[in-house]
Amino acid sequence: MRQRVLVASNRGPISFEFATDGSLTGLRGGGGMISGVTSGLAAVTPHADVTWICAALSDADRAVARQLDTGTCDPGGVPVRMLDIPPDIFDRAYNNVANSTLWFVHHLLFDTTNQPHFGLAFAPDWESYLTYSEAFADALAEEAGGPGSAEVRILVQDYHLSLVPRMLRARLDGGARNTRIGYFWHIPWAPPDYYRILPLEVGRALLDGILGADHAGFHAARWATAFLDCCAAILGADVDRAGSASTGPEGTGGAVIAGTVGRVRYRGHVTEVAVHPMGVDADALRARAEGADVRAHISTLGQAAGGRKLIVRVDRTELSKNIVRGLAAYRELLATRPQWRGRVMHLAFAYPSRSAVPEYRLYTERVRLLAQEITEEFGTADWNPLILEVKDDYPRSLAACVLADVLVVNPIRDGMNLVAQEGPVLSERGCALVLSREAGAAATLAADALLVNPFDISETADALDQALAMTDAERQRRSAAIAATAAAFRPARWLGDQLARLGT
Ligand code: G6P
Repeated sequence: MRQRVLVASNRGPISFEFATDGSLTGLRGGGGMISGVTSGLAAVTPHADVTWICAALSDADRAVARQLDTGTCDPGGVPVRMLDIPPDIFDRAYNNVANSTLWFVHHLLFDTTNQPHFGLAFAPDWESYLTYSEAFADALAEEAGGPGSAEVRILVQDYHLSLVPRMLRARLDGGARNTRIGYFWHIPWAPPDYYRILPLEVGRALLDGILGADHAGFHAARWATAFLDCCAAILGADVDRAGSASTGPEGTGGAVIAGTVGRVRYRGHVTEVAVHPMGVDADALRARAEGADVRAHISTLGQAAGGRKLIVRVDRTELSKNIVRGLAAYRELLATRPQWRGRVMHLAFAYPSRSAVPEYRLYTERVRLLAQEITEEFGTADWNPLILEVKDDYPRSLAACVLADVLVVNPIRDGMNLVAQEGPVLSERGCALVLSREAGAAATLAADALLVNPFDISETADALDQALAMTDAERQRRSAAIAATAAAFRPARWLGDQLARLGT
């Protein structure tokens, strides 16, 4: 009997939009989690029956969810079941709890003098988050309890769904089915002292929720270890740190790269905690970059660069991505190293994200303003130092990576970061990677990237200078090494390793 694999995530692999004539169009879901899971599942679908459960994110998604007779649509080989969660519940769970609270805690983003305020207003937000999580647990339990006696493997994704493993376990416990629950946390994990910002019962519920899983995965050992620290400090759980993790190559300080880092026993159940770094599917990415749309952008961007060296960044306009300090470092480079003026161009692609959260709208304005200041300060009649694009354009982003001499990825904190890996895979001349040491990817790429403290603008400007001045041979060597590491941790391996841990 074929294995049954259920994936659950807030955003699914497809979302819908109403066209002007009222018809529905499907669009590929964005973000690293979606692309990694989609690519990883491609290796699983030939021998397993997969269903992906996600939330309906918009009115168009809800219209599709209501139209479905069978409960699922099948846009790209994987049946997708969209949960029609009432909009006000969804909004509170997604925007107020997941994005404005959990994301901020784990990326250490709060301006703690003023935020957060866990007052009366938080209670309905938390209630909504419980209701939203229950909708996922109900749907997963229903899918897992279908006819037959196949093995069921459930892969719950991301911080939105932290409560789901425990809720699901409670729903499954009555059955004797061979069902195992995996959970993956895609963002950083906060240290206990910062995690304590959360109201005690909330912080405990989130940890307990994840500990309902049989296996919990993180992209980097730092995040997995911080999770274990919180389990011990906040829950008083029994944490065994004996693992079988592999450590990085020389030069990475012996850091753990992949493997088990410990086990947590809590409420009579043991959860294995492990590191599974996510890389990229290099062959698929390179094949995509051969597309006519990408080639057309390569030609246009190449003309705009006019033979100058290109510094590229591609991010969602996301507070944690640190775009403002990245631009400030570029400004400092031009101010302190006048030799680069006229010889370099910065392509900054900063795509819209979570505009329902006020801080994101403000941040986007700061990015625009600083970009404008740089252009006014240094631009000349025949040299534009900076092109900022805020409209999402995937083929154009790939084209920029193909042309990059330097790639800047300087997040304040980041679970992994796939752009840091996609850039070197795609770059034709080989690109030097300026990488924040606070990105999960720093653990796998430390030996070949130029690591920076994301708060240190001068250090970042120095690294940009070093990257621009690097010899072609050195740049190509480092870029090829990063591309090889990224390919080694390809999503098929990322997902396959987790399924193996759940017992295939
Ligand atoms: C980033 C994180 C992912 C997360 C996604 C959600 O990409 O790395 O772990 O799933 O954000 O983004 P969304 O646009 O759905 O809020």
